[in-house]
Parts: sequence; C-alpha cells; structure tokens
Amino acid sequence: MEALDQLDELLSCRLDVGRKAVKPCTIVIFGASGDLTARKLIPALYHLYLEKQLPDPFRIVGFARRAKSDAAWRDELLQDWQKYSRAKDVNAANWNAFAANIFYCEGEFSDAGAYQKLRNQLAGFGHEALRRNLVCYLATSPSQFALVTEQLQKSGLLLRDEGSGFEQKLVVEKPFGRDLLSARQLNNELTRFAHEKQIYRIDHYLGKETVQNILMFRFSNSVFEQLWTRQSVDHVQITVSETLGVGGRGGYYEEAGALRDMVQNHLLQVLALIAMEPPVSLEAECIRDEKVKLLKSIREFGPAQVSSFAVRGQYAAGEIDGQKVPGYRQEAKVGADSSTETFVAARLLVDNWRWSGVPFYLRTGKRLALNSSEVRVQFRPTPNVLFAAQCGPKLDANSITLRLQPNEGISLRFNGKAPGVSMEIRPVRMQFDYEAEFGAYTPEAYQRLLLEVIAGDSTLFIRRDEVETAWSIVDPIRQAWTGQPLEAAELYPAGSWGPAAADDLLARLGHKWRMTQSGH
Ligand code: BG6
Repeated sequence: MEALDQLDELLSCRLDVGRKAVKPCTIVIFGASGDLTARKLIPALYHLYLEKQLPDPFRIVGFARRAKSDAAWRDELLQDWQKYSRAKDVNAANWNAFAANIFYCEGEFSDAGAYQKLRNQLAGFGHEALRRNLVCYLATSPSQFALVTEQLQKSGLLLRDEGSGFEQKLVVEKPFGRDLLSARQLNNELTRFAHEKQIYRIDHYLGKETVQNILMFRFSNSVFEQLWTRQSVDHVQITVSETLGVGGRGGYYEEAGALRDMVQNHLLQVLALIAMEPPVSLEAECIRDEKVKLLKSIREFGPAQVSSFAVRGQYAAGEIDGQKVPGYRQEAKVGADSSTETFVAARLLVDNWRWSGVPFYLRTGKRLALNSSEVRVQFRPTPNVLFAAQCGPKLDANSITLRLQPNEGISLRFNGKAPGVSMEIRPVRMQFDYEAEFGAYTPEAYQRLLLEVIAGDSTLFIRRDEVETAWSIVDPIRQAWTGQPLEAAELYPAGSWGPAAADDLLARLGHKWRMTQSGH
C-alpha cells in the first residue's frame, strides 16, 4: 500500500509552478460591514495568512459608512470569526498578528472626500506596492458597483495604465445585473473606468474544489472523455438542492428568485464545465472561450415555449429534519402573495456536434429534502438483447455522478452479478471519495478565489461575454414568468423535492431524477 502511495505521489503533476507570484498589495473591501465580509472574506484571508499564501506585506482596509476605529473593527471581526468559523478557537497570537494588517476607513460611497481619505491611508502604509497594487472588493449592493468604480477612478485609485508594474483590480460580487440589458449597462459602466482584464466577476462555485475538478476529470482521463458525447450519453442531470430557506435574505430574494440567484450563474457554470470542448491551453482566456462557446450553443427558447422546458415552484410550510418550517410567503420581507420562485427545473438543449439531442436537466431549490449538489451523467441503456431483453427497465443504465457537495466524490454505477447460484444482476458502484483519498481538506471557495485575484489569474472568474450570454439564456424564462401569479400546483411542501411538474418534465422523455446522495 505504501509503495502504491509513493507511486501516486511520483505521478502527481503540479500545474501551478509557473503561476504568477503574489505581490504586496492592499485589499480594500467596500461594504465592509456586510455579512459577506464577516462570514467569508475575512475568514478566507485569515486562512490564507495562516497558510503563508498572502503576499508580504499586505494590508486589508474596510471601507464602510459607520464610524469605527481600527481597533473596534478588528474586535468585531474577531467576534464574527468565533460566530461563523468552523474552527472556533483562534490562536490569539496568530489572530493579533493578522489583525495588525487590518484597517478601517469610514466613508460614503458617493463622497469624493472619503476616497481621498482612503488614498492618504494607503499612502500612510509607507510602501509603494501597498499604495498602488489594489484589490478593490465590491461587497456592496449591485446598484453601487458603478458609483464606487467611478469614484475610485476619479480619485486616482483605479488606473487603466499598463506597464507601470502596479495593478488595481476590481472584484465584483453577484448578482451581476438583473437581466441581459442591465448586465450590459453595468459592463459598459465598469469598462468606462477599468479594463476588462482588471474586472473579476465572482461566481463562488468556481472556487469549489469539486467544480474545478470537473476539467481535470474530463481532460486528464481518456476513459471518460471518449464517452462524453451524444453517442454514449442519454442525458445529464445537474441538481443543486438546499434544505435552507431564504432566512434573513427575503428582501434580496424577492427581487432575485432562484432563476437569478442560482441558475443564471452557478448552474450554468457547472453545465458549461461539464459540456464544453477541451480548451486549446490552460490559459484563462482559452478556458473562458470554450465556456462561452458552450453557453452560446444552448438553444434559446421564446417565452411561449418556456412552459415545455422550465418549471418553477415555491416552498410552502413543511418539515425539514423533523422540524416544522414556515413557507416562503411567511418569511421576513416577503410579500404574502409573492410569486417569486424558490425552485427551478429546466431542460436545456445544447445545439452542437457533441451534444445534439442530449437533454441537460437542471434543478435547484430552497427547502428541498436534502442539501446536495450533484452532476449525474446518465449513459444510454444497452441494446435490447440478452440481459436487457429479460430485465427490461429493471436493468439500470450506467451513470457517473460527480458529487460536488457534501460527501465530495465521484461514483460510477454499473451492473454486476450478485454472488450466488441464482442469476441475479444488480447495480453496484465504484466510488472515489475526496475525504478518504486526500483527508478532510475542503478550503473555502473564497480562499481560492481571493488568492487567484491577488495573483492576477482570471480563470475562475466570469468574463463579460460569459455573464451576458448566461443572462440571454435565462431572460426568456424570466419574461414568461413575470406577472404570472403562481398556481397552487406550483407550491411544494418544504422538505419535498419540489413541485410534481419537475418530475413530469423528465417523465415526458422517459427520464427520472436520480441522485446518489438521496440513495437512488
Ligand atoms: C449563493 C446564493 O450564491 O449560493 C444562495 O445567493 C445560495 O442563495 C448559495 O444559498 C449556495 O452556495 P453553497 O456554496 O452553499 O452551495
């Protein structure tokens, strides 16, 4: 066993040896008093610090409206860390050393004076790179993206110059626009002040290990890639299900709905990685080119066809893990007659040579039966002779499931003979389990993403044409649903798998939702 492990070590190949080195910089977080900063950004930066991945020196500046001293903000962040972090206990010496790099800048986003103050603060760090290498993280509401970017540019903090050896980057959180038109406008506004290559649009799914592994799995194994075509694949199912409801985010969610919140970004990104052609190289632009090409080949349907291809739903009261939970309409900041969808299922068709005629089913929802994200590639059944002729539909077709979270792993399902004197065929599984193979190491997506921004690698971020193409796929669905009140059949009890119509969507072509994590 040991010898095998050593061989595995010898055969592992580092692809990142030539990656850009991280240079000293300051990370300025706009909207620093928000949830994202406390829950995700600061913990991710702290972990990077502990792992010695951050540049030396570095600084973090939180920019927000409320008056607060550096010391008060550091204390708040420590308390938040203890509230949200998986590893509750903080080594005081480590935290204090990290926190000594954190500063606060009080200011309104629209106040030019506040940006001058920020400038002075950066200059006060006494290091040219900390003043001029900036990662400006817009953890603000999307309506502020353009304003902050413009102010940054006017105050001389955001420059488009090349060749100075210093870089200013903008990191933009989702949602990026509400539809194609608004996304285009936003892109136009941002690119008035910054080059496209300075803009890092976040989709945190791309920071997940298992999502990054999709490309490795597909393009470093000849066994599977040969099967990855319409000749072998019957259909593909992508499910991202959550047991959580909208919690305190009712206000945001009323505007977004599952289509904008999940499908336009996370699900389409996973689909693009599963279905794209091999890129010419591992350069960011080559990978993003292929993703865009794939998204562009998804068949657009007009609003009149939406009901044949897409299903929506909204959770009603129900039970999750034996606990009674309220329906969506009873959540805070949600209208009593809201028609916002908390569930979407869709059948998409990819009109290209590889995938023509293969349905890609997407499904996502809140307050579903399980917390689980999976991609299931369902292969075609065997010809109807021998075993298939006798067993009929009982002879299961092969499938590969990529379990994105939790229980991260990959499993291949095939049939085998049950041992014994009888002739019994039954499905068995071959499993790869991340934890068993590599130990329990699942870095937060934000850790990876922040490091990539600092290093200036945009592979894991969404390019302008990518975000716009994704909107053009979901816009017709949105248009068809807008102004159409939800019908009773579209409500699903919390703790279920969504409305019955989601099953009918697959049943029309003789398919059925299948998931390994739910045991089928
Ligand atoms: C976010 C959505 O982008 O992704 C949330 O806004 C959703 O509504 C979350 O819960 C899911 O992310 P994860 O990493 O928990 O699967």
